[in-house]
Amino acid sequence: MSHRVRIIVNGKEEELDVEGRLLLCHLLRDRLDLTGTNIGCDTSQCGSCTVLMEGKAVKSCTVLAVQADGCEVTTIEGLAEADGLHPVQQAFWDHHGLQCGFCTPGMIMTAVEILGRNPEATDAEVRHGLEGNICRCTGYENIVKSVVAAGARGS
Ligand code: FES
Ligand code: FES
Repeated sequence: MSHRVRIIVNGKEEELDVEGRLLLCHLLRDRLDLTGTNIGCDTSQCGSCTVLMEGKAVKSCTVLAVQADGCEVTTIEGLAEADGLHPVQQAFWDHHGLQCGFCTPGMIMTAVEILGRNPEATDAEVRHGLEGNICRCTGYENIVKSVVAAGARGS
């Protein structure tokens, strides 16, 4: 049985018919071609599928598409601004906050939420906030440095 959902994704209203079991990550990747949202574990552990839903960082592999009905969702593709990268993206670039890049979209989306709540987040607060995001390249030092720098820059 399918359900009609209306979701504002990256500022654009999308109206789709979805199966009740469809996960938000699959809707984003397979129906809307937003493949920046990576799927690393499918079991809510790695955080690579993190997106913002109503401004809150959520693991989109644990959210049903029907649960996002009526919500605003932002993916990594929706972060950059017309005049360049989002400040958190720029900070990851400047401080070498990525290696293979697989975890990076999820890290950045979580970082945006952390800094939205607390722009002056300390090293320890950033580490705590990112505890649900795993980097298999273990590049945590530069990831944390990037987020703290983005906060200091006023993202
Ligand atoms: Fe969602 Fe790993 S794919 S938490
Ligand atoms: Fe490779 Fe994080 S940069 S998994």
